[in-house]
Parts: sequence; structure tokens; C-alpha cells
Amino acid sequence: EKGGYDYFMLKEIAEQPQAVADTLLGRLTETGEIVLDEVRLTDQDLRDVDKVFIVACGTAYHSGLVAKYAIEHWTRIPCEVETASEFRYRDPVLDRSTLVIAISQSGETMDTLMALRHAKEQKARVLAICNTNGSTIPRESDAVLYTHGGPEVAVASTKAFLTQLVACYLIGLHLAQVRGIKYADEVGAVVQQLQEMPDKLRTVLESMEPVRKLARDLASAQQVLFIGRHVGYPVALEGALKLKELAYMHAEGFAAGELKHGPIALIDQGTPVVCIVPSPAGRGVLHDKIVSNIQEIRARGARTIVIAEEGDDAVVPYADELIRVPRTPTLLAPLVTTVPLQVLSCEIASSRGHDVDQPRNLAKSVTVE
Ligand code: BG6
Repeated sequence: EKGGYDYFMLKEIAEQPQAVADTLLGRLTETGEIVLDEVRLTDQDLRDVDKVFIVACGTAYHSGLVAKYAIEHWTRIPCEVETASEFRYRDPVLDRSTLVIAISQSGETMDTLMALRHAKEQKARVLAICNTNGSTIPRESDAVLYTHGGPEVAVASTKAFLTQLVACYLIGLHLAQVRGIKYADEVGAVVQQLQEMPDKLRTVLESMEPVRKLARDLASAQQVLFIGRHVGYPVALEGALKLKELAYMHAEGFAAGELKHGPIALIDQGTPVVCIVPSPAGRGVLHDKIVSNIQEIRARGARTIVIAEEGDDAVVPYADELIRVPRTPTLLAPLVTTVPLQVLSCEIASSRGHDVDQPRNLAKSVTVE
């Protein structure tokens, strides 16, 4: 049932192009309209939304962090993201015009469920993004968008994450279309780019051999740091989480601009730092800023492992290792830049002799608070 792979995780990583295609299936019309038919909220309900809260745990929380950039950019609605276990204990400001998006692969995570119930008590509307049909979180929500990623067996989430990202993009685009605001023009181009994503992911998966080789080399490292900016920051957090979960290594993700305010002290001779670089096209300033962050850490001895898109030559002089991904607009880039990080942590864990599918102390779905 592992389909010829050594681990479910490897199988699920390989399934990502199909999983993403399945999340998109039937939800984009030829004219670029987003159809979210399971969403039982009227267009008027969506027009009334003046604030979005995203609540989730673990990897699902990281998908929410990415979603914030897309939703705020396309819709201009303020969006906050919070770990579900913190959300309800601080008395968040919620009312009828708040949309709470609860993201959960299993649909059974107790922290997320309790956050959702709290939101409903405050009369907020709740939309679930979920991979498991008929599970508790979608049943208790006002609306649900299923990710259709198929069953995920490995404890560490991979394809669920990518499909959660796609679902978040769809919701952001849909909100932008319904509300008809400024960035609605971008929707057509983004729809096109989403449709190209399964092919891009196939290309990424075919080029993972250098990552596997690098993983064997990093298996004895004391720590691995991850840096990114903008949507690359949640990708850095997710890369670090994967390494903690699977390889039991000290790993941290940082916003690259924040390094100089403290974490740069962690950099020592040979410290591996994975750097997630955005496309130089579009938000060029962002790209240049991270290139200078990479220069700074390298000057302090870091071994830089740079994930950058094809044709980005500016990073070459500062990359001890260079992992190429296909050209992708910044907001959608987490779909491609996350994949090498999944492969990296899976391979490091297996080199260290760990049970990749069943890491110690973890459960696939945590049904206690
Ligand atoms: C954890 C899992 O405890 O729950 C993580 O080990 C997962 O992999 C998190 O990201 C949230 O799970 P779910 O099902 O709510 O997405």
C-alpha cells in the first residue's frame, strides 16, 4: 500500500501534483470564475465580511500564515492568523461580520474544534478547510471547502499542506471576485498559474536528487536554520517544523529581516541555513533584501542552502548549495518551495535511522486540548 515507496511520506510527497489538481478540480471555470459550491455562505454574507481570522495547528497553521498574505493582498480585508490553542483564551474580538477559517487535515483536532466553537458562540461565521469528509470540524462549520487530497497516512503532513494552500488561494480569489475590489483583475492570471501548478510540481519532484544527497550530508548537523521573507517566512517555519518532527533536530525558522535582531548570534562556522528566496520578478525589493541577508550570514560562517527560482543569477555567488525551483509568482511560491524541504527532512530522518511515518511522541490527529 506504500505503492513501492519506502515510506508513506515519500508516497504522499509524490502524490502532490495529483492532490493539487484534485483540489482545483471543478472549482475554476473557463472564464476564470472560482466556484466554491460547498460554501453555504451567500455572496452577500461574503461581502459583509470585514475581518478574517484563521485558526489552525501545526502544519495547517503554517498554511494559514501563507493565506494571510494572499487574502489581504487580493481582498484588502484584514486577516489574522493564530494557533488554535491560543485563540479562544485571549477573548478575540469577533462578531457577525467576522469570517473565521478553521484549517484542519483531519477535521478532528480538538484545539481547532474548540476555537471554532468559541467563534460560533460569538456569532462569527465559520468556514472549514478540511481533508476528511464528514469529520467534526466541517460538520460544525457554516461552510466547508474540502481539499480532496486523499488519505494522508504519514504523521508529518505534506500533501495536506499543499492542498490547504490551494484551498486558501481559492477562498482568497473567490472573496476578491465576489467583492469586486481592485485586485480582482489579478484573479485571471492567478487562476492560470494555479492550473500550471501540478506540472510545476512534477518538475520539482523530478529534480530532487541533489536534495537527497545534501540530506545525507546534513544528517550529522547540530542544528539547521531556515530563513525567508513574506510568504517565504511561513515556508521557513514549515521547513523547520518538518525537521523537528522527523529528524528530532534543533531547527528554527526566522523572518530573514529579524535575524540581525538576535538570532544571527546562532550562526557559527558551518551552521547550515536554508534560505527561501522569492522571485526577482514582481516584488524585486524583497528578493534583493534576502540576497543581502544571505550575504550577511555567509560572512559569519553559515553554510547557505539556497532555494531560488530558475534563472535567478544574483544568488549564485552566495549559495554553497543551490536548489532550483520553477519560476513562480511570489504569492504562489510556497507550493513549489516547500517540496524540497519535505524531501530534505524525510531523507535526513531516514539517514538518522528514524521511523519517518511514525515519529516519536506524535500522533496524526490530536483529539485532546
Ligand atoms: C498535529 C499533527 O498534531 O496536528 C500535525 O502531528 C498537524 O502534522 C496538526 O499539522 C494539525 O492537524 P490537523 O488534522 O488539524 O490539520
